[in-house]
Amino acid sequence: MLFDDVLRQRRSVRAFKPDPVPLSLVRELLDCARRSPSGTNIQPWKVHVVTGEVRRRLVAEVLAHRETNPPDTSAEFPRARRTEPYVGRARALGKAMYGLIGIPRGDQAANWAQWGRNYKFFDAPVGLIFTIDKSLDCMSFLDTGMFIQSFLLAAKARGLDTCPQGAWNNYWTVTRRVLNLPEDEWIVCGVSLGWADEADPVNALVADREPIEAFATFHGFEDDRERLAPESNLCSQV
Ligand SMILES: Cc1cc2nc3c(=O)[nH]c(=O)nc-3n(C[C@H](O)[C@H](O)[C@H](O)COP(=O)(O)O)c2cc1C
Repeated sequence: MLFDDVLRQRRSVRAFKPDPVPLSLVRELLDCARRSPSGTNIQPWKVHVVTGEVRRRLVAEVLAHRETNPPDTSAEFPRARRTEPYVGRARALGKAMYGLIGIPRGDQAANWAQWGRNYKFFDAPVGLIFTIDKSLDCMSFLDTGMFIQSFLLAAKARGLDTCPQGAWNNYWTVTRRVLNLPEDEWIVCGVSLGWADEADPVNALVADREPIEAFATFHGFEDDRERLAPESNLCSQV
C-alpha cells in the first residue's frame, strides 16, 4: 500500500474477528515500530504483548474488578480536566459512535457495557500494554506515542487493524498484578490487534478531523494559495 493510503485507511477498530495473529507477525510489527524516533534515542517504550490464556485471565480479572471498583487512573498519573474545544470534540465522537451502534443518549447501562468492551480488547486475539519507566517524563510519553503510531500503521499496511486504548490505564492495579509488571513502570496505553469484523456497525465509524486552519499557524510563508491546487494535498482525499 502507498504510505498515504495506509495513513488514511487506519481507523480505530472496536470489533475484531477471533482469528489468531501469529507471533512472527506481531514481532514483524514491533520490528518496524522500533525504528520510531525518540528524544536522544533513549527508546523508552516497553510493551507487554498478551494472547491466549494470559489475555483471557487479564480480561476476566479486569472486568470482575470493574464491577465493584472505581477506575484508579488518578493515583497513577494525574489527568487534566478537559475544557472546550476538547470536550465538544470528544462528545461528537461519542455521539457518532453510540449513534452507529444504536445506544440512546443517557442509556448508562448500555454505555457502561460498550465501554467495558475495551477491557476485552474488543475481542481482538492480541492485546498490547505499553509502559515506561516512572523515572521518565512527558517527553517519553511522546516517544511512546510515536512508537504506537508506527505500530498501528505497520499493522494496517499488512491488513491488520488496531485500537489504541487509554482505557487500559484505568485499572492499572489489576493489570500490574496479572502481568506481574514492575512497580517502577507506568502503564501508558493499551492497543488491541487483530482483524476487523467488518460486519459490526461500530467499525463503520469514521472519526471527524478539524481542518488544517484549526490547528496550524503559518509563519513567514509567501502566499502560495493560488499556486497550489487544493487537490495537491493527497492526505485530505478521504
Ligand atoms: C492515546 C489514545 C487513547 C485512546 N483510547 C481509547 C480508548 O480507551 N477506547 C477507544 O475505544 N478508543 C480509544 N482511542 C481511539 C480514539 O478514540 C480515536 O483515535 C479517535 O477517535 C480518532 O479516530 P480514528 O483512530 O478512528 O481515526 C484512543 C486513541 C489514542 C490516540
